Amino acid sequence: MCGIVGYVGEENAVPYLINGLRKLEYRGYDSSGIVVGKMVNNKPVFELYKKAGKLTQLVGVLPKELAGSWGIGHTRWATHGMVTDTNAHPFLSNDGKIAVVHNGIIENFQTLRSALEKEGVKFASETDSEVIPNLVARFYKGDLLAAVRDALCNVIGTYALAITCVDDPNKIVVAKRGGPLVIGLADGAYYVASDVSAIVGNTSRVIYLEDGDIVEVTPAGLKFPKIENNDYAKRIEEITISAQETEKCGYDTYMEKEINEQPESIERAFAGRFDMEKATAKLSGFEDEIFQRTNKITAICAGSSYYSSLFGASLIEKYARIPSYAEISSEFAFKNPIVGRDDVYIAVSQSGETADTRDAMTEIHEKGGKVFGICNVPSSTIARESDGGAFMHAGVEIAVATTKAFSNTIMIYYLLALKFARQRGMSKEDGAKFIQEILHQPALIRETLKNSKKMKALAKKYSKAKDFLFLGRGLMHPIAMEGALKLKEISYIHAEAFASGEIKHGPIALVNEKTPSVFLVPDDYTRDMVISNIKEIKARKGPVIAIGVEGDKDLESIVDEFVAVPKVENKDFYALPMLVLCQLFAFYMAKELGCDVDQPRNLAKSVTTR
Ligand code: F6R
Repeated sequence: MCGIVGYVGEENAVPYLINGLRKLEYRGYDSSGIVVGKMVNNKPVFELYKKAGKLTQLVGVLPKELAGSWGIGHTRWATHGMVTDTNAHPFLSNDGKIAVVHNGIIENFQTLRSALEKEGVKFASETDSEVIPNLVARFYKGDLLAAVRDALCNVIGTYALAITCVDDPNKIVVAKRGGPLVIGLADGAYYVASDVSAIVGNTSRVIYLEDGDIVEVTPAGLKFPKIENNDYAKRIEEITISAQETEKCGYDTYMEKEINEQPESIERAFAGRFDMEKATAKLSGFEDEIFQRTNKITAICAGSSYYSSLFGASLIEKYARIPSYAEISSEFAFKNPIVGRDDVYIAVSQSGETADTRDAMTEIHEKGGKVFGICNVPSSTIARESDGGAFMHAGVEIAVATTKAFSNTIMIYYLLALKFARQRGMSKEDGAKFIQEILHQPALIRETLKNSKKMKALAKKYSKAKDFLFLGRGLMHPIAMEGALKLKEISYIHAEAFASGEIKHGPIALVNEKTPSVFLVPDDYTRDMVISNIKEIKARKGPVIAIGVEGDKDLESIVDEFVAVPKVENKDFYALPMLVLCQLFAFYMAKELGCDVDQPRNLAKSVTTR
């Protein structure tokens, strides 16, 4: 987590640094800061500003006339040390000459700090990052690139770094190990950022850094010591996202925009991915012959990606008859997992940077296994390190709570289930019907979104509740889990999800007249059992909000609130419409309670800590 930016060029660095940080705030928003270098009486000087709180706090203390030809900036998600002005980045070395912004964790910072303290260095903050400028200062003898390289030889941990020295004007040295980092190349200007969303609009030419890269950035160009003859042209890529994708486009919040974009975004997930002739899905990244013989598919993932994968695993198992599982990536290594020769792993990650999922991937690779990826960010580490896979094509997702990327993951799972099922006995006729259901999903979601006002009214009515239960059976259980997560992460209301058959085994003790239960009730084989569970809740005076299917009058008559999604032919296609209603409910609840929907407290979008 944490976002870093940097600029060297002919223009004023400050607008880019601030706009760039605004685009990267999703990576962390506990505090922010910038250091700007400029010439005063022919002498280079630094001006440093940093502030706890959201970026607006920093902007509030910047002098209007602040300008400089180079600078670096940071938006923080706190790991070591409280959220204070002092712990905010950038950090200066004791002599005030070296400035550093850092994303990552320096694991041996205590050892480094003690050694530097013995040499007389005084530390102001509680952070691990502050050792870096002091370490670089210790090695600096007029060549910043060399000093950074020497300093990093002593560092154990992960980092994306932007480092500058006041005695070396118009120069930034960047280094990557673990955290993402990209350099944008324009005429007479170079941009550094944790991700391209901060650069888009300034230039379309970028270089994604790889682990181990250390690069000097000046207005004259880049110095890439790792690349023979400094011939880095081959590494330049075009940014594929548009500036508009990173804007709110008339919505008040990114989350509302992203919820409403879902009909189009799920369409992108399946566009061009059908072979109508053969009634199957075309996913070239899943063509490996291991899929013909495997008898075990395991998704490794975290948070919402775990919930979408629980859904996906059930779907694949049901249709393709391949035993399939989803495992929480942060727990994966603890059982010293057995990686069988024909086992298939799928790393599922919107950001493609989640450290826990990357670790699980490393464990599998080290044991000789194959890991395929389902990622949204094509340039991400997981996407690059996978043995194949599929992109979600959800477009840029900026709100911290995922919505459209979750839906697109579900879409990819529908495609995988179809593809594997067709390889293993699903008839062509059934394949064709399955495709029709997928094609129908955007219209279904468009229709479901028309319930927006109703969900808003419900959120208002139930906004005093302190606890919620989310309940569903079968494929609806993971959707209930996602619904509960959405509510708790953006409205801070306690919400727990259960397989509704489980409530009688304990959770029903939580039910009273103040604890509403949200039931997901498709008109499938689970319906009657779920209705029994609803009655158990009603018998204990628990208010029930049912998300059901249009025309289900019996259900409507026994619950307090009823919201319906349109009917579908194949009952396994209710997940996305029902999920959309849960997303809207959480969204309006958070708005009703005055919460910051896009940047919920304590969270960050890209979770690169362990
Ligand atoms: C919840 C949410 C998180 C992420 C989780 C994994 O709204 O966004 O739970 O799903 O941090 O992130 P990725 O998918 O980027 O690996």
